[in-house]
Amino acid sequence: MQWFSRSQTLLKVLIATLIGLILITSPALAQDSSIFNLNEATTITKIVEISKQLQPPKLRGQHTKGHGTVWAEFTVAPDLPEDLRVGVFKQPGKTYPAWIRFSNALVMDDTKPGLHGMAIKLMGVEGEKVLASEKNAQTQDFVMLDHPVFFIHNAEDFAEFFTALAEARGQVPQEFFKKHPPELEIVQSFQQKYIGNLLAAQYWSTTPYRFSNTAIKFSAIPTSQIGGEVGATPNYLRAVMADYLRNQDATFDFLIQQQTDAEKMPVEDPTVEWDEQNAPMQKVATIRIPRQIFDTPEQFAFGETLSFTPWHSLPEHQPLGSINRARKAIYQATSKQRHQEMDVAVKEPMPNSLTPYLLNP
Ligand code: HEM
Repeated sequence: MQWFSRSQTLLKVLIATLIGLILITSPALAQDSSIFNLNEATTITKIVEISKQLQPPKLRGQHTKGHGTVWAEFTVAPDLPEDLRVGVFKQPGKTYPAWIRFSNALVMDDTKPGLHGMAIKLMGVEGEKVLASEKNAQTQDFVMLDHPVFFIHNAEDFAEFFTALAEARGQVPQEFFKKHPPELEIVQSFQQKYIGNLLAAQYWSTTPYRFSNTAIKFSAIPTSQIGGEVGATPNYLRAVMADYLRNQDATFDFLIQQQTDAEKMPVEDPTVEWDEQNAPMQKVATIRIPRQIFDTPEQFAFGETLSFTPWHSLPEHQPLGSINRARKAIYQATSKQRHQEMDVAVKEPMPNSLTPYLLNP
């Protein structure tokens, strides 16, 4: 028994040393060590509770307004260099079918400024995933906003912000921003965001992700020639996208930025933009959204039953940093709550879950 407990201790030391070695050899992951932090776990539980309270019945608590969920193809760059052939990018030239949900972060009226979301779900992705409850799911999500940085440093600050928001009953939590002027500056830049067409905006992950042994951020840049005035009606973004996709394809390049300096490109703080001078964007895939009719009631309803989370992921692309760690429990809890209210099972889609209405040339 004594030998057993001593050998157990030895084993623990050996495992800790091995983990330590892995963390030391990887600057990005070394900063992710607070994953074992108890305070953070308590903070996340608090955010989950507030999220569930603030969530409108049957709907998402954030990004409530979906403009539509479109069918897409995500093709890994055929000439991808050897060192970038990681996770879903392992096989150059491979095409994954995908759903993309476009959303407003906060506002319900499109004429009002604010952030927009682009959430991509690849299907047919083989390999065990990081979420224990969905490890056999065949999906990989890439969740993005049309701004390069998030406005909160970490889970702890988010809990403070969210508590203030709940107390302010939907109004801007002035007290929080009085104490956090740089965050207010970022939020003010969101309030300058007016877009004419969701297919013409650039989107960023804002938070970092694992890319094998390094850390990356990712981005989608539109490559179709799309102009477009800012509209004047509350749902113009959906109408403009529907009109555009009825007539032509839309395309994006999907790019990654690799962390080259752990100080200047922190993993734990998504308010810091990774400067493209130090971490240039590298194209790893092309997104093609073919001509289609997506704005049918059936497809809209389907999109609202989907669950996007950065944690629908292969281990090679596991989310990193405090905000992403918080998102793990939050997205699962809020998705579960709205699915229970809708009386629909939480289930990752297969490529044949819904047939898109594609318009061939
Ligand atoms: C602690 C910080 C955050 C919290 C509490 C939070 C919370 C949420 C929640 C509750 C949802 C709805 C989930 C569902 O019901 O399925 C959501 C969706 C979303 N979030 Fe976050 N989020 C956070 C950070 C971020 C960041 C950093 C990004 C940057 C990319 C982001 C982008 C999005 C997008 C695009 C969606 C919509 C996904 C969809 O279309 O279903 N969020 N968020």
